[in-house]
Amino acid sequence: MLRRLYHEQPASFAFTPANLAWAEGQIAKYPEGRQASAVIPLLWRAQEQTGWLTKPALETVADMLGMPYIRVLEVATFYFMFQLAPVGSVAHIQVCGTTTCMICGSGDIISVCKEKISPTPHTVSADGKFSWEEVECLGACANAPMAQIGKDYYEDLTAENFSKLLDDMAAGNVPLPGSQTGRFSSEPAGELVTLAEYKGTGAQYNGSVQRAVDIGDTIKRIDGTEVPLLTPWISKGGSKPTPPKPAAPAKSAVQQAAEAKKAAPKATPKAVAPKVDAAVADAPAQKKPRTMKAPRKAGADDLKMLKGVGPKLEETLNAMGFWHFDQIAKWTAEEIEWVDENLKFKGRIARDGWVDQAKILAAGGSTEFSKRAKYD
Ligand code: FES
Repeated sequence: MLRRLYHEQPASFAFTPANLAWAEGQIAKYPEGRQASAVIPLLWRAQEQTGWLTKPALETVADMLGMPYIRVLEVATFYFMFQLAPVGSVAHIQVCGTTTCMICGSGDIISVCKEKISPTPHTVSADGKFSWEEVECLGACANAPMAQIGKDYYEDLTAENFSKLLDDMAAGNVPLPGSQTGRFSSEPAGELVTLAEYKGTGAQYNGSVQRAVDIGDTIKRIDGTEVPLLTPWISKGGSKPTPPKPAAPAKSAVQQAAEAKKAAPKATPKAVAPKVDAAVADAPAQKKPRTMKAPRKAGADDLKMLKGVGPKLEETLNAMGFWHFDQIAKWTAEEIEWVDENLKFKGRIARDGWVDQAKILAAGGSTEFSKRAKYD
């Protein structure tokens, strides 16, 4: 049950351009200040790209969402779907070992894993292609025993058909997911005894198998080059769709009469005010804060002491010309708008209270976060 970061870590992580565009699309789904809600999709995509979640990947996701690293680590260690150690380059096999599968023979499947992959779970096979683990019920008990491989379920497994599946995958093939004994879905393994009149839909595969066949990426890593990654809620120009305005409440007769009076033509027409684009009129004013070409002689402040600023964001702030707490402490509302806009993650400065934190740190004090961060 111990879930910790792996003892060997790569130096860096970066989303592929296609995955990055998809990730930014996910972030755009959430309202300002709630970007952290995208943490699970982003972690999942990072895992789909590299097979497992590395420390640099967790940090990259944290920086993208303005989250402290520890919060992202908490998510990654809580959910068992996230792999924190290297997995096989071809597939990581998750064999269900819960009651139904156990009664129906998951022990045989695990024996094949031990023999063909590794005697112990979470250990990459000698050829580097596979790894395995036992997991709890995956909800396909009617087709037990089963295993999840990549995004798909392989059901009605036997030692023989499972062994062949592994051989197929090792040879570079992508076997058909779903029942390995030819069941369409979860109907009785023998004769249909109920709802027999509904037998046969005319479809070759059930919905999820058909989807896997259509996409064809069952056990492959996802870098976006083969499978188009869709973010249909983002308009072509890259902006978020405007949510519909709530309907105005019904007006009383008195209100209607007052409005009619207001709208009545006046005797002396006044000059018509120039039309202002509503979107421009609503946009908050922005002003670029004073920046510095380089830090002062004594050296730059450690901006990571600000909650919500990680190493990547600190680099970005430095590149923008912000090196010291006292610079940030002086930002006005208009200047915050400008920095927010240029950081591309609106709302994070106000949400994490950078200015208030910076005032304390610039005065030589410390915050709860900076005290903790110093000892990390
Ligand atoms: S017990 Fe194995 S899927 Fe439910």
